[in-house]
Amino acid sequence: TSASTFPRSSSCDRAAESALVAANADVGHDFHFLEAKLSVETAPLAEGFAVVCAFVHDVLDRPVLEILAREGVQLVALRAAGFNNVDLAAAKELGIIVCRVPAYSPYAVAEHAVALILTLDRRTHRAFNRVRESNFALDGLLGFDLHGRTVGVVGTGKIGAVFSRIMAGFGCRLLAHDPYVNEDVVALGATYVPLEQLLAESDIVALHAPLTKETYHLVRRETLAQMKRGVMLVNTSRGGLIDTEAVIEALKEGTIGYLGLDVYEEEDALFFEDLSQEILQDDVFARLLTFPNVLVTAHQAFFTEDALRRIAQTTVENIAEFARDGRPIYEVTA
Ligand code: NAI
Repeated sequence: TSASTFPRSSSCDRAAESALVAANADVGHDFHFLEAKLSVETAPLAEGFAVVCAFVHDVLDRPVLEILAREGVQLVALRAAGFNNVDLAAAKELGIIVCRVPAYSPYAVAEHAVALILTLDRRTHRAFNRVRESNFALDGLLGFDLHGRTVGVVGTGKIGAVFSRIMAGFGCRLLAHDPYVNEDVVALGATYVPLEQLLAESDIVALHAPLTKETYHLVRRETLAQMKRGVMLVNTSRGGLIDTEAVIEALKEGTIGYLGLDVYEEEDALFFEDLSQEILQDDVFARLLTFPNVLVTAHQAFFTEDALRRIAQTTVENIAEFARDGRPIYEVTA
């Protein structure tokens, strides 16, 4: 099967490309790797390909899907778990099947959330620089024990469950909120509670729910007002779960004591690119970066060798299954 693969411009995409080439070695799909991100302007490059393989910052709205359908694309194979960037209703109308990689490594994302927590708490990022300048003073580095603290896990699916297990290992008390109870999480000692109670009692709130209409701006002025003063908020899910401007106000007031983000609502214009020679145009993002208690990583939680290998294998299998009987293994339906 021939597949055009968007985009390859960043180092992340080159790592994904190597993993796809390796996973495809014995399968023999004909992958063409394109430099551009998928958008209305670049969609015509898919002409003649049965499959378009895309990632989180590729645009798959109705206008793009219409072009892809016109060019003969039958399958959109996402190299990701999240599919909030795809207009599924439009894809269905246009006869384009969408598939994804539902689980590649929940460990990669959960462990990155923990990395953000430990860095924010113990300020190892600041200590690293200080020690290199022979500054061995400890002021400003005061942390807190995770042991005994209350951690609120919003979304206890695959990633939230792995995250809960790790935090249980630290000796944290676990509160969970999810429309579905995960018995593995209950077995760790977690208590499922309404969101309001979770926010009121948690020292650390970790977001592991997908971006949907219900979770859009789950963290906003009203819900921030329910949180403990000085709470640590960590989001490795999707930027849209947080109203960034409300969070900036909460940081200024001290309601939020620590903020760890791997995702940002307007990240499509920034993340995965080297913009170090450019002037940052996003003033909201720029303000976030001025707080000493904010740590932002650029959507790298998934970025482990293990995860990339699994993503590539499942993508190759999705396409192979589609070629065999017209249905990928992990189809996404609206
Ligand atoms: P999953 O589907 O296994 O779990 C999601 C859980 O969230 C489910 O249990 C679901 O019931 C729950 N949920 C849905 N609506 C909710 C609500 N309103 N309140 C509370 N919980 C709710 O998904 P998985 O694999 O755990 O991934 C979670 C999210 O992490 C993905 O949707 C994706 O957006 C994000 N992600 C981020 C990555 C990164 O690199 N930063 C990489 C992979 C995933």
